Amino acid sequence: MADFVAAVDQGTTSTRCMIFDHGGNEIARHQLEHQQIMPQPGWVEHNPVEIYERTSAVLQTVMNGRGLCASDLAALGITNQRETTVVWNRRTGRPYYNAIVWQDTRTDRIASALDADGRGDVIRAKAGLPPATYFSGGKIQWILENVPGVREAAEKGEAIFGNTDSWLVWNLTGGVDGGIHVTDVTNASRTMLMNLETLDWDDELLGFFGVPRQMLPEIRPSADPDLYGYTLDHGPLGGRVPLAAVLGDQQAAMVGQVCLRPGEAKNTYGTGNFLLLNTGTELVRSKNGLLSTVCYKFGDQPAVYALEGSIAVTGSAVQWLRDQLGIIQGAAQSESLARQVPDSGGIYFVPAFSGLFAPYWRSDARGAIVGLSRFNTNAHIARATLESICYQSRDVAEAMEKDSGVKLEVLKVDGGVTANDLCMQIQADVLGVPVSRPVVAETTALGAAYGAGLAVGFWSNADELRQNWNESRRWQPEWTDEQREKGYRCWQKAVSRTLDWVD
Ligand code: G3P
Repeated sequence: MADFVAAVDQGTTSTRCMIFDHGGNEIARHQLEHQQIMPQPGWVEHNPVEIYERTSAVLQTVMNGRGLCASDLAALGITNQRETTVVWNRRTGRPYYNAIVWQDTRTDRIASALDADGRGDVIRAKAGLPPATYFSGGKIQWILENVPGVREAAEKGEAIFGNTDSWLVWNLTGGVDGGIHVTDVTNASRTMLMNLETLDWDDELLGFFGVPRQMLPEIRPSADPDLYGYTLDHGPLGGRVPLAAVLGDQQAAMVGQVCLRPGEAKNTYGTGNFLLLNTGTELVRSKNGLLSTVCYKFGDQPAVYALEGSIAVTGSAVQWLRDQLGIIQGAAQSESLARQVPDSGGIYFVPAFSGLFAPYWRSDARGAIVGLSRFNTNAHIARATLESICYQSRDVAEAMEKDSGVKLEVLKVDGGVTANDLCMQIQADVLGVPVSRPVVAETTALGAAYGAGLAVGFWSNADELRQNWNESRRWQPEWTDEQREKGYRCWQKAVSRTLDWVD
């Protein structure tokens, strides 16, 4: 048997390839950023062709860098930014339009119309999601209505839809020469088009968005012993490797953190933050602004569900300090700048750049920095940015406790921002519980590798994966209860100032 498993993590800002051994140790990685295209306020796009080129490049670089060949890989797993919508022509392989990214708010009218006439409640009941700009359904509708020729081509089955997982799988398995058009249950559960109970596309939901069924991919288990397909001899891995798993990135992080039992939870700090709680085979419906979503489905075993608190802007708020305000050179500098001051000097930053997601679901919100006085400096803004990541996580943690009745005892964390020691300390302070980071903080890629490895028998069961999980660092809360509650009260006041901003 081959010694390694590969994973592609196609994220919002970059695409990376990582290779893991049987112990879940990282053997190699390579990562490339892609362009963020922002043609208008609230619009965010990616170029799908660039994304596939970056994917090919990171796969090739990792393989060549370690002198590996396809036969060294037992399997390949793919994980991806969810909801981001690509529509392409299956004959030419060309996208009709840029990918509309999950953060994009151009569909706010489509989303608010759903709640005006009762369709919203059907979507909540069937898809487990509140109508919002976040999900794919409205984005597909926008492309069908605004890009000439797409509706006609979609009716004929020529224009096809996928999130970036489907786009990559289609290209990696042959593209115009027989690429397979598939997705997995976790990605499908983010479209507003899949029924969470039947795990199939739902005709009533398709009708709400005017989406022809023939443009949709086949929905498959997240880890599939029957395999998604094989990579090609002339493809970027230079040979046939079983493509055995596809998972949305936050669900993949659940698998990578080995949150495979009901009651286990993790918080991933990426472009946004995503706190997920495994609810087992029971589909739990939130009363407090969280999503019900598919956590994973392994082969023919029943689907496992999760409650999710999705936060749109966390790591991307740090990028905003770098790219738009220019007050830091790189993400790491947010920590050194914030450390220059003992607190945020009375300011609160609510980065509601894409409206507010969980638990508020307010597309009419826009960002604000409140409490400013002449005393405040860039250092306070940097600190308030890190605090905003942690307060937003507290908002969803509170909702999670109310929905599940389970009190959080320790928060398992992963993702890029967890390298920011100060941010993790603030997180422990704001929540009042310890924060624990594993040795492999890139659990998204690890989870996709685990899914693929489980499907082909590289790993035999969850216990093997549990043995691979080791803590690298734990942060203990240091604030007094009084400090914590005062801070949170002010945060909630700041959030209230951002609502109802868009006319
Ligand atoms: O739902 C959006 C999420 O999948 C994006 O994750 O890590 O690319 O910010 P990330």
